[in-house]
Parts: sequence; C-alpha cells; structure tokens
Amino acid sequence: MLRNGLGSMLLHDAKKANRFVDLFSGSGVVSWFVSQNTECPTIAVDLQNYSAVMAQAVVCRGHVLDSSVLIENWISQAVQERDLDPLWGMALALDRQGITTRQLVTDTRRLCESVSSPGPVWSAYGGHYFSAAQALSFDYLIKCLPSLEPERSACLAALLVAASQCAASPGHTAQPFQPTATASDHLRSAWKRDPEAHCRRSLVDICPRFANSEGQAIVGDAVRISSELDLSSSDLVFVDPPYSDVQYSRFYHVLETIARGHISGAEGIGRYPPRVDRPQSDFSKRSTSHQALSDLLKVLSQADATVILTFPANECSNGLSGASVREVADTMFTVSEHKIVGRFSTLGGNNSRRASRQDSLELVLRLSGGRG
Ligand SMILES: C[S@@+](CC[C@H](N)C(=O)[O-])C[C@H]1O[C@@H](n2cnc3c(N)ncnc32)[C@H](O)[C@@H]1O
Repeated sequence: MLRNGLGSMLLHDAKKANRFVDLFSGSGVVSWFVSQNTECPTIAVDLQNYSAVMAQAVVCRGHVLDSSVLIENWISQAVQERDLDPLWGMALALDRQGITTRQLVTDTRRLCESVSSPGPVWSAYGGHYFSAAQALSFDYLIKCLPSLEPERSACLAALLVAASQCAASPGHTAQPFQPTATASDHLRSAWKRDPEAHCRRSLVDICPRFANSEGQAIVGDAVRISSELDLSSSDLVFVDPPYSDVQYSRFYHVLETIARGHISGAEGIGRYPPRVDRPQSDFSKRSTSHQALSDLLKVLSQADATVILTFPANECSNGLSGASVREVADTMFTVSEHKIVGRFSTLGGNNSRRASRQDSLELVLRLSGGRG
C-alpha cells in the first residue's frame, strides 16, 4: 500500500506536519518510511513490545550504523559462545541420517524440555517453531545483544526479522507446523534455515536506515497515548487498527518473547504464554471495537489533528467495516475517501486451505477539520 498511493499521501501531509504519530505501528514499516523520507519526527505506538523495538531501530536513530562492526561484535561473539555450550553438540546430533521428521520432532522436544539454555527460546519453542540448533542460536544471539542504544535495538530488530523468517509456521506464530504427511516438508525446510545468516542479512538492511529527525517508540494503548501526547492541528496521525477478532498477541508471541528476553511459560500446541502476558486490545473484540474506534477518533478530532486512516472495505471479523468506520468518522471530521488494492494477512491462513495473504480493497480516509 505504501507503493500504491498511501506512501505519497503520507509524505504530502507529513511534510507540513510537526509530528507523525503511527498509532498501530505493527511491523514499523510505515514509521520507518515517514522518518526516513521527511524531516518530521515520528512517534510509533503499539500494544506489543516487539513492534516498539522494530520502530525504535530506525525512528529513534539519526545516523547510519556500520553493519560489519555489529556482525563482528554481536553475531560472531554469540556464535563463539554457543559453540562452546555442550548443548550445541547435542542439538546438531539430533538430525541424524535417515531419521523421520516425527522422530526428529519427538527427540528435539525431549531434549529442549529436559535441560535449559541461557535464553527463553530453547525451552519455549525448541521442537515446535524452531529446531534445537536454531533455538540455541537465538538464545545466544539474545544473550550477546549489545547493551547500549542505538546498537541494541538495531540488532534486536534484526533478530526479530530473522526469527519470523525462520519460524516453522504458516506466516505467523499462532500454530507451528506439525510432523504430519502434509506439513513435514515445510517443517524440515524451516528448521534448516540459518538464524545467523538471516540476522546478518537483516542487519545489512536495517543499519543504513535512519530518521532525519529522531522520534520515539512507545508501548501502549492507542487511545490512552493519544490523550497523553497533547496532539494538535500540526500533528499527522496514521491509524491502521486491527480488523480481526483474534488478538494480535496470539500471532506474534514468539517475537514478543524475543523482544522481552523472557517468557513465564509456554502452553499447548501454539506454545502461547499465559493470557496475562498477551496484550489484549478492545479493537480486536466484536463487543468493543466500535466503541474503541469512536473513542479514538473523538480524541483525534478534539485535538484537530489530521488523520490518515486505513481499513479493509469489506466487513471484518472484529465487526467493523470500511462503511462503519467511515460512518463514525463522518460524525467528527470532514472526510475524503480513496480506495487502494492491498494485500492483507488472513492471520494464520496456511496457503493450502486458506491463503495467508489475500488481495483486498482498502479504504484510505483522510480526516481533517475535527469537530470534537
Ligand atoms: C493492522 S496492524 C498494523 C500494521 C502496521 N501498520 C504495519 O505496517 O505493520 C494492527 C496493530 O495494532 C496493534 N494494536 C492493537 N490494539 C492496539 C491498541 N489498542 N493500541 C495500540 N496498538 C494496538 C497490534 O498489536 C497490531 O500491531
């Protein structure tokens, strides 16, 4: 969507704004885009920690980083320490010649449950989303992260990207592939991916990016943070709220664990942490989504901020639709409407029965002239 019209709309308004506020920043790509291409400081907000790390890696940094230095000081150090751990030899020995995927998974789970490693990934996700070797690599990469900013968040963001690329699951980390007839090949191919190589590639992408004006990344609720930011008519606010009635924290818990560096327990096939550790959003509940949107737009309208809001045109599982979002916006703002063809995630589609991404018609609303 950034390349399909949304990007130029954002740049047009951000060039005149004092701040750009991305209230549901997710992967951080929209925040990165505005902070790299305008002089406007970006404030990225999301309920999830991993999202704040992704945003922070670029929007809070005003200069390039040398990826080769980080590869040497961080990745090489992690690999060196990991190789000295006796678990590394045990992890490598699991994938023996001729072993079935089912046996490999059983052996891996047994090993990862029986002893612990220096980080959260081995015990929580080894034998599920990751092979034992990958899990141990991730744990040492977490352990050896630089302690100072901005290096730390750049490396942690690279690690999050690597983990999402290596995870043995269909698009999101809601359910790992199981060693069944249909999913075994996917599982084995994911378990062969090399975390260090993915981290290196991702660092090389992140390090040259920087914000022209340094901004902020905040973990918190969009409605609450909007009230606290003292927004005004000189602020441009981007609103890309949830459209699903399943909490995002269900799909991103692996990344959340890596961002936090710990997990208090992992349960069931999905290996979810306890519910108290999974941020819950009113925007992802049918019973509250309408009120949450209305509360948010009221705060933005009272501040007289300019808002760019995107939402799928069709009716979504959280009970909102392009038409109902527009109806709420019309009561508080002057609205201009655009439509863009986008690709949206079905959150958990497995590409065989339900595609993980589908074409969708996205509504892009520009809201101005707030009426409180
Ligand atoms: C549709 S996604 C946003 C995608 C994002 N624009 C991107 O480019 O990746 C919705 C995001 O809203 C976040 N979220 C859900 N409820 C929230 C709330 N009340 N306050 C802040 N963020 C919330 C979710 O964690 C998720 O990252």
